[in-house]
Amino acid sequence: MRRVGGVVRPPGDKSISHRVVMLAALARGKSELSGLLTGDDVKSTARVLRQLGADISTIRDGATVQVAGKRLTPHAPRLHCGNSGTTARLMLGILAGQKFVATLTGDASLRRRPMRRVTEPLRQMGADIEERGDGLPLTIRGGKLRALTYSSPVASAQVKSAILFAGLTGQVPVTITEPYRSRDHTERLFAHLGLGIHERDGAISYQPSAVSIPSFTVAVPGDISSAAFMLAAAVLAEGGELLVENVGVNPTRTGFLVVLERMGAHVERINLRDEGGEPVADLVVRPARLRGTEVTAAEIPTLVDEVPVLAVLASRGAGETVFRQVGELRVKESNRLELVAANLRAVGARAEARGNDLYIEGGDAPPKGRVETASDHRLAMAFAVLGTLPSADIRLSEKKSVAISYPNFFRDLKRCFAS
Ligand code: S3P
Repeated sequence: MRRVGGVVRPPGDKSISHRVVMLAALARGKSELSGLLTGDDVKSTARVLRQLGADISTIRDGATVQVAGKRLTPHAPRLHCGNSGTTARLMLGILAGQKFVATLTGDASLRRRPMRRVTEPLRQMGADIEERGDGLPLTIRGGKLRALTYSSPVASAQVKSAILFAGLTGQVPVTITEPYRSRDHTERLFAHLGLGIHERDGAISYQPSAVSIPSFTVAVPGDISSAAFMLAAAVLAEGGELLVENVGVNPTRTGFLVVLERMGAHVERINLRDEGGEPVADLVVRPARLRGTEVTAAEIPTLVDEVPVLAVLASRGAGETVFRQVGELRVKESNRLELVAANLRAVGARAEARGNDLYIEGGDAPPKGRVETASDHRLAMAFAVLGTLPSADIRLSEKKSVAISYPNFFRDLKRCFAS
């Protein structure tokens, strides 16, 4: 019998890690950041900020990272954002308020990802942006910005945060509305640092004030998007119980837990506390029999990065699961909508993308076959979870991509089944 047991601690939250490194680089004085994600994406943010003159100590497991905020200056001709969409889009916001020219680029996957969703509002604020198409590389000349009230066509925390960062560095008021509420880490951090952030009827506003950004100390909670893989592996096991410690449970991020509950698996939250304005808990999970569900368009932003692993779980449930309006998955690190469906079919499950919806039919045939991850970390981890079933024979096209968001993923997955 395949039993789970023991305790795992997911790595630091990726979204919060990017934001605290950026804010610390913009702050006056020395900030101390603990619990940062040591994955490649956060290292990309630190690299780009160092290229702009920020003083950031080495990011490694267990280390408190020291950041000495300085006035940003252009040091390098090209800022390389690696695989990280968050680095590219949030940095565009930061650069919009700087009085120099900078060119941003990234790896092949990042260069394919849309940037106009961010450059469009930044242009309306007065940033001068030179582009060759809807993507990187881009050259931005920031400077004197004007106020913006913007209604975003996509529910994207990256778009919202880029505009908030432009308001912050350009010292102009901004107001943003979005079709559904996306993750609110930027808003929470602004509030935590005493920066003028307000919400009214779903509209988020930033109002500049004369005071500069204060330096700060923060402990980044564990990433629920990484914890989701361990929770999913535990749900698929045949016995035992797993404790996942120190997980951020911000309600704009916990859609995975809500949907898991509807599918028949209960995750208990214990030891609830607050860390730098973010709710944190330890999670207890046990194996469960799953059933299909409908995931609504409004729920998608709260679990957008968990669709691959939820889809894997849905393929083991009873009946059909539908994810509504997941067209955004086409422009993530890979075309996740098509690749989730194609890979589920490749291992013998029934799955199909119809328009912008994803349909999965649950079953209990042993999953067997080769999975093409397209170097997408979340596809690699989702299908590795499927591979923990005793009947499974899953071959991943590569495993290295997990270093983007969860460097110790395979060690932790093993640990869940070690006791
Ligand atoms: C992120 C927001 C999401 C998410 C990404 C991280 C962020 O993207 O998919 O992994 O840190 O703001 P969108 O805001 O583009 O949906």
